[in-house]
Amino acid sequence: VAPPRDLQITDPGLLGALDVEWKPPPNVQASSECTVKYKFEYRNAGDTDWKVIFTRKLKFRVGFDLSRTAEVKVQTLLEGRCTNDVEVHSDWIYATFQVPLQGKLESQVQNFHCIYHDWEYLKCTWQPGLSAPPGVHYGLYYWYEGLAQAAQCEDYTQDRGMNVGCTVRNLSQAEYRDLNICVNGSAAATLLRPLYTTLRLQNLAKPSPPRQLVVSMSAAEELHVTWSPPGGQTPPQCLEYEVEMAEDLGKAKPAWQPVSTQMETAATIPRANQSHISCVRVRGRTNFFCADQGFWSEWAQECFSVSRKEDKQLFILIPVILSLSSSLIIFMLIVQCKKRSPAGKPFHASVG
Ligand SMILES: *[C@@H]1O[C@H](CO)[C@@H](O)[C@H](O)[C@H]1NC(C)=O
Ligand SMILES: *[C@@H]1O[C@H](CO)[C@@H](O)[C@H](O)[C@H]1NC(C)=O
Repeated sequence: VAPPRDLQITDPGLLGALDVEWKPPPNVQASSECTVKYKFEYRNAGDTDWKVIFTRKLKFRVGFDLSRTAEVKVQTLLEGRCTNDVEVHSDWIYATFQVPLQGKLESQVQNFHCIYHDWEYLKCTWQPGLSAPPGVHYGLYYWYEGLAQAAQCEDYTQDRGMNVGCTVRNLSQAEYRDLNICVNGSAAATLLRPLYTTLRLQNLAKPSPPRQLVVSMSAAEELHVTWSPPGGQTPPQCLEYEVEMAEDLGKAKPAWQPVSTQMETAATIPRANQSHISCVRVRGRTNFFCADQGFWSEWAQECFSVSRKEDKQLFILIPVILSLSSSLIIFMLIVQCKKRSPAGKPFHASVG
């Protein structure tokens, strides 16, 4: 059987999704006698493995890293009565594609990082390329399946008049899909190398700290800790929590000790030592059911004061001393006022 014909790769301008199409081999018609299928494989130059698709279609849109050459190959597979039910395959045909790589590599933005805050907005930051001239203007573009065309970010963060970050909202449709990003730039008379990357939002999520952290102590001297999932759009079932505790925060540096990593929003901690104050802190992160990785939230912290026996006696003594001394002061004031008021006049007449 002959290989397919006219294998072509075209760039629809979606920052990484390329259209690959081919035509059937000549003189082969699908019939009840035989089925024609194709084995389509693709990768970026430098990857060791090909991704493989078996199909009867003649056109595919697949994702590539545009900063490297895209490589594809297709062969015809024929099987049925016409081949005595043995699968016959053709030779491969190959094609490659590379966007024009303008500018020097050192002109590309550096330290590009993104965090998906509360599953609500994506914030990306970068630094200008080493050889970027002053006055360069950077732009961030993105695309995911569902958008008709690449969109430009509209909410830039600036440093000395230069775009160095960007916030994109309303990306829930892009979760669990490839989000293609391009950061390019223009400067008078200089070409800059664009940065292409593909993000997975769920792996970049950072939740807010857990809320309503409450610590209480039972008669059995156990600490009960409860909290609520953070606000925002973070799916509560997608979180795991890390619990730590420290005792005697009076010391210069609290010695935080891990208690547990768990998905429930409550924990019980035996109190080993009878120190005055215990503190508990909890933070959250996306669990492995929802993502391959994620960022820890900041800590939510709550301290719990336990008064010792001597302290309890002191607490009873203090109000007694306070009330005694205040009645003494009031008594002395009254005596003073009476002395100052003119003789014979009753005390209440001089007031007001
Ligand atoms: C940056 O990329 C976008 C999307 O591909 C494109 O529309 C724009 O013209 C590019 N800008 C520069 C300065 O290359
Ligand atoms: C209890 O105190 C001992 C000695 O002060 C210390 O080594 C230990 O780590 C403490 N335990 C906890 C749970 O804080």
